[in-house]
Formats: sequence, structure tokens, C-alpha cells
Amino acid sequence: LGSAKDDGGAGLFCGLADPVPDQLLSLINDFRQDVRDQKIDVGVGVYRDDAGRAPVMLAVKAAESWLMETQATKAYLGPAGDEEYLDALQHVVFGERFARRDSVVGVQTPGGTGALRLAADLVAAVGRSRSVWVGEPAWPNYKNILHGAGLRVRTFPHYSLAEQRLVEDRAMSELSRASPGDVVLIQGGCHNPTGAVCSPEYWRRLSAVLSSKGLLPLMDFAYQGLGRGLETDREGVEILLEECGEALVAYSCDKNFGLYRERTGALFAVAPRQELARRARSSLCALAGGLWSMPPDHGAAVVRTILSSEKLTRIWRTELDTMARRLASIRKSLARALPVLAQVGAQEGLFSVLSLSENAVLDMRKSHGVYMPLSGRVNVSGLNPSNLEQFTAALRPHLPGYT
Ligand SMILES: Cc1ncc(COP(=O)(O)O)c(C=O)c1O
Repeated sequence: LGSAKDDGGAGLFCGLADPVPDQLLSLINDFRQDVRDQKIDVGVGVYRDDAGRAPVMLAVKAAESWLMETQATKAYLGPAGDEEYLDALQHVVFGERFARRDSVVGVQTPGGTGALRLAADLVAAVGRSRSVWVGEPAWPNYKNILHGAGLRVRTFPHYSLAEQRLVEDRAMSELSRASPGDVVLIQGGCHNPTGAVCSPEYWRRLSAVLSSKGLLPLMDFAYQGLGRGLETDREGVEILLEECGEALVAYSCDKNFGLYRERTGALFAVAPRQELARRARSSLCALAGGLWSMPPDHGAAVVRTILSSEKLTRIWRTELDTMARRLASIRKSLARALPVLAQVGAQEGLFSVLSLSENAVLDMRKSHGVYMPLSGRVNVSGLNPSNLEQFTAALRPHLPGYT
């Protein structure tokens, strides 16, 4: 919310200021109102196919049909949500080695956002530390979520946009200033907004800093499977868990199952022993009670249906692999057309940030119908073989070394 202004009225709403407008929402609006045929949307954070559509996945459609026919009740599930969904998802998220541990527990949440908020509320409730370290540049909503739980956001450099590379040494030295018990929020791959890829060595180094300083990893795992495949994409989570005794993992199924509006997520707590995991789960259920009481059912029921059928799992994985391959291929095409963007070709997931001035972003919008936020973040899935040339023509004059 914007800062309150007092206009003299007595009512609650008189104390409200107009919130700072959401840049992405106004971008969507401007894009809709643009009457040009040849406009390009690389702003909105949803996966689009070659034809520019965000279709419902076939595995999801099949699961929904089955649910329509067989669902016998809409009665509440309880604050932890759908237990079968959580069990099945735990295997996808952690792989067999960690999923079998009885010191891992999960709670279903409304999307990855709900999982992050629940994690933040747990940290605040324990009260050992109120500081959460966030690598920059970051997903802008982290601040709203963490501040909403009364936590303090500390930042550390994660990626240099100017140099288009991870700033590993600076990240590690800044994190070594954190106090024991502080939380470090880390994205588990397909980084939003940078698309940066962390090597296993990077994860090992980070894990060593976290465990030696007694810092708690809060993993934000929102894009599993959209990078280098389901298994490879969880590499960072596995390395961190090997090293750190405790972790929270906030997971979203909204991107990799294309369920966005169904708000499908989970928060997993990884504890050093079963008794502590049990306590974590009871506390998470109690906190969820005060946030949303019970999570929404439909998205989780769809995921549970897919993951409990070998056939639907195969269809889903094929669709997800196709999405990841398309993202990699469009990145390669972009880097081939504009070699100065070689890094974008090597990055992964939906997003990359182009080093552009705000004027350049606005010029691309006005003169070429290319819509991206002022930060220069592009959703590469908005590009396809039929609009790539228009996009590169709009971008070229704004890149260093091109005239
Ligand atoms: C990095 C990151 N984390 C978490 C989320 C939240 O996902 P959900 O839509 O499931 O709440 C998003 C959504 O855009 C995201 O980009």
C-alpha cells in the first residue's frame, strides 16, 4: 500500500492512499489496447507456446475430466490439504533419496506465494531471527510477502546485470555477515528475473556458507522442469539438503503444470529428525489456519491425479520437456541473431533481463509494439519464429556495439 494520507474523514478508508500502480498490470492493459497487429508481449510471466497461447496442458485436461466424473464430495480436506498430493509431490521435488525420509513434511498452500508467506510466518513465530536475506535482483513480490509477515529484508548481490554473470564472491562475502538463525531466500533454478544458472560448485559453496554460519535456507522452487529437466533442476535443492540440517522449500505447481489461476503450491519443511519435522508440520497447520484456514482443492487434486497415474505422468513430463526445449531453443535463436546476447542463450527458464535503459524499453514499446517492463525483463516464451525478427530489429539499435 502507498503511505497513508489523512484527508480529514473519520472512516477507515480515509486513511488509505492510492497504492503504487502495479507496473505489470498496466503493461498488460497497454498491450491489450495497442491496436497494432504485429505487437509482441514479453512482459507477462506465463509460459506461451509457439503460437503465443497459454493453453491448458493435456495431462491437466485429462485429470480434470476424470475428477469431474469421479469426485464425490467437496468437503474440507483440513489445514494440511491433500495428503496424497503432498506425498506424490514430495518425490518430484526431492527425488527418491530425500523424499523417503520421514523428517520431510509438507503442507499444501495457495500457490508458491502462499508457501512463501507461510514460511515467513513460521520464521516470525519462532522469532529467533527476523532477517531474511534476498539475492538481488529478485522477484519483486518477496518484499511484500516478507514484510507482510513482519520480517526484515536484507539484500545481497547475486547477479550483475551489467556484466551478465553471477557475482559469487560478493554474494558469499556479504552472506558471511549474516547472523546465526537468519534466513536466506534462494531460488531453486530458472531464476526470476535473471535466468542465471548456478553450477553444482556454486551450490556447494553456498551450502558451506549457510551451514558454517547456521543460516536457514528458504528455497523458492517455482519453475522445476522448465530449465534442464525435472531431475537436473533439483540439483541445487539436493546439494543444499545434503549440507544443511534444516530447510524450508516453498514450491509452486502453477508454472510446471500450467495451473496458474488454480493457486497450487506446497511448503515442505526438512528437519534433522522426525520429531522436529512433526512439530514443524503442526505449527505450519496452525499458522495456515489463521491465513486461509484450508487450501483450495482443485489444482492439487489435478496434480495428485496426474502424479498417481503412470500414463498421465508420462504425458505431463513430455509436455513439460517440450516447454523446456522450446525455451532453450528460442534462447539459442536469440543469441544467434544477436551475438551480444550470448548469455541469454546460456540461461534457463522463462526470464532474462536485458541491459536496457528505460528510454530504450519505452522506445521499443512505442515504435515497435514490443512490451516489457522497464526493468528490461523479458519472458522469452513470448518470442517465436514468426516474431523473433521483429523483436531483434527493435532491440538491435539499443544494444552496445550496434549502430
Ligand atoms: C520466483 C517466483 N517465486 C514464486 C512465485 C509464486 O508462484 P505462484 O504463482 O504459485 O504463487 C513466482 C510467480 O511468479 C515466482 O516467479
